[in-house]
Amino acid sequence: MNNPLRLLPTLLLVAISPTIASETHEFSIAKTLYSETCATCHYDGSGSPSAPDLIASSFWQDESPDRLIHIILFGQKGVSKINGKLFNGIMPPMPYLTDEEIATITEYLFHKFAQRKMSVEHTQVARIRQPLPSEEPEATKD
Ligand code: HEC
Repeated sequence: MNNPLRLLPTLLLVAISPTIASETHEFSIAKTLYSETCATCHYDGSGSPSAPDLIASSFWQDESPDRLIHIILFGQKGVSKINGKLFNGIMPPMPYLTDEEIATITEYLFHKFAQRKMSVEHTQVARIRQPLPSEEPEATKD
């Protein structure tokens, strides 16, 4: 064999790490917000004796995110029957959250609890926070 075969197979195993969709990053802020502002009462979404189960909430079936935006901004109190359980607690209003924060957490919660892609603009939150005069419920003027 005067023709030495220089077989030097080089096996290159290139591990290509898949680029994880930016969704994870986008939602990281919302995750922190959820654990800091909502989880104290709602825990991971499974609820507590004093706050309803969010996983089973009817909110995720809504066409629009308005009901969720509204409850975050203005809270809710009084007796409510939610998923067959009576609640007479107080969800405090959280107007100190910015429009951006509420938009992000709203998108995140639709994704988390219903695997739904809901796009929410901060302007949509602003409109619910402060409706245009024409959109406000009939004001009582003397
Ligand atoms: C201090 C406790 C508390 C905190 C903090 C809180 N909630 Fe609540 N939440 C409640 C209570 C109590 C109710 C039920 C109120 C009632 O009796 O109508 C409620 C109701 C809700 C509902 C309505 C569920 C349904 O199916 O009707 C949603 C949605 C909700 N909360 C989301 C949130 C989100 C999102 C946050 C964080 C931004 C949050 N809550 C923070 C206590 C809390």
